Amino acid sequence: MSAIRVTEGKIELLDQRKLPTEITYMVCTSWQDVATAIKDMVVRGAPAIGAAAAYGMALAAKALQHLEPQSLLAGLEEAALGLKATRPTAVNLAWAVERMLHFARKQNTASAVQLAELLWAEADKIAAEDVETNKKIGQYGAQLIPPKARILTHCNAGALATVGYGTALGVIRSAVAQGKEISVFVDETRPYLQGSRLTAWELQQEQIPTTLIADNMAGFLMQKGEIDLVIVGADRIAANGDVANKIGTYSLAVLAQAHKIPFYVAAPLSTFDLQLSSGQEIPIEERSAQELTHFAGVQIAPTGIKCYNPAFDVTPAALVTAIITEAGIIKNPDTETIKKFFTE
Ligand code: MRU
Repeated sequence: MSAIRVTEGKIELLDQRKLPTEITYMVCTSWQDVATAIKDMVVRGAPAIGAAAAYGMALAAKALQHLEPQSLLAGLEEAALGLKATRPTAVNLAWAVERMLHFARKQNTASAVQLAELLWAEADKIAAEDVETNKKIGQYGAQLIPPKARILTHCNAGALATVGYGTALGVIRSAVAQGKEISVFVDETRPYLQGSRLTAWELQQEQIPTTLIADNMAGFLMQKGEIDLVIVGADRIAANGDVANKIGTYSLAVLAQAHKIPFYVAAPLSTFDLQLSSGQEIPIEERSAQELTHFAGVQIAPTGIKCYNPAFDVTPAALVTAIITEAGIIKNPDTETIKKFFTE
């Protein structure tokens, strides 16, 4: 099951709002369609929204290929702004859009039609690279997973959150492929339930032993010695190793430290934002109160109650045992180890 499908100049996004009970794809024929799909969570997960936005840029170019290259570029810049404005926390979105813009600006001699074709090919490249990157993350990460490990994960950092294979779930897939007989505890991940709706579904499809728990059960399981390690994905990693990821990740990292359990983050290099010196500078998306006051359309809180619904939190680097990337593992991440990793 792919989060993103490409067919004859259109892209189709698996509507993740409807999982696990309904499998439908939303067809996008313009960059505006893609922007709406990202904003409305049809597609979600840092690498997946990056790749979708890259195709959004390709669709923008296609729609403008009858113009002069300069006008096409101006239109692309407008699409870039619109796509980047959809969700603020995951840096992969801006990374992919900027890569497409930079690529377009370099094609000095191309006609508008050629430019549109080249941009489509560049989006295909971003998508293909994402799968390869995740497989490498999986290979590196599997080295850290002992046989029969009982692993806790949060949110969905799987195939659905990427173009394929997943980051944190990629590590799990890779360990399973090595015959390590692992089992996975999945946090349901309130309030949007990416854990129960998406991760539990994804792991079940592959018959990886999976147990769903509510978010507030993690501490109890750790206290009983039933979790060997935690692995999560990331939406943005600052230069000092602080990690923004789905709300609730920080609580898990604190719990993991209290119980002396390794806490791993799996993410591609495109998730690092080395311009930010610490995680305090990462913009945190706030989502609608409706996600807290309603459950599957049913009201579960008093009318008019004040709500606060940040979608992400920041885990300080000091709580992270290692960050697993496609270029290797950064143990004890901090400003020094990350700088060294990127300059070597
Ligand atoms: O709000 P979402 O569902 O887009 O949040 C996704 C996450 O927080 C993931 O853990 C993160 O993007 C990593 S995905 C490989």
